[in-house]
Amino acid sequence: MEKIGVLISEEKVNAKIVEMAEKISREYEGKTVHLIGVLKGSVFFMCELAKRITIPVTLDFMSVSSYGNGTTSSGVVKLIKDLDESIEGREVILVEDIMDSGRTLSYLVKILKERHPASFKVITLLDKPSRRVVDIEPDMTCFEIPDRFVVGYGLDCAQKYRNLPYIGVIEE
Ligand code: IMP
Ligand code: MG
Repeated sequence: MEKIGVLISEEKVNAKIVEMAEKISREYEGKTVHLIGVLKGSVFFMCELAKRITIPVTLDFMSVSSYGNGTTSSGVVKLIKDLDESIEGREVILVEDIMDSGRTLSYLVKILKERHPASFKVITLLDKPSRRVVDIEPDMTCFEIPDRFVVGYGLDCAQKYRNLPYIGVIEE
């Protein structure tokens, strides 16, 4: 069994999400925000965020695979599941679990902006800016973290640990 250390506690994550939800509620007052979650990692973050937004919210999901068969990035992003609904004219916020190289986000931003949303922003729970290979930045970031492999709050290691209520690191 691997041992998991706490990098960001449940209390800290929750407090930050409350702050972000308040910011979004203020910024989009009078509008409906359409949250798009990238499966499966962003689901936990998206639910917590959506619950705390006080203006009307609608949701949709998409799924992409960032990597080829190996453990190293192929740089190729493939669309596995597209959105159920059109985003034309909507106030879209793309919800990501983590930004690493930036390849996934840059692909998603490209295909979604072509669909003419009224506005388009990106919020990420975690960002590892030191790992970026594509020149792209999220509009809102909950936490910047160092270059360490993290799990929990939706993030997995071989599909495990997504359900941890905090951001953890696997200790050797
Ligand atoms: P990017 O396209 O390189 O930015 O990759 C982003 C994706 O890689 C995320 O959506 C995660 O699925 C995965 N990823 C990157 N870093 C981590 C990590 O530390 N833990 C778990 N998954 C990660
Ligand atoms: Mg992901």
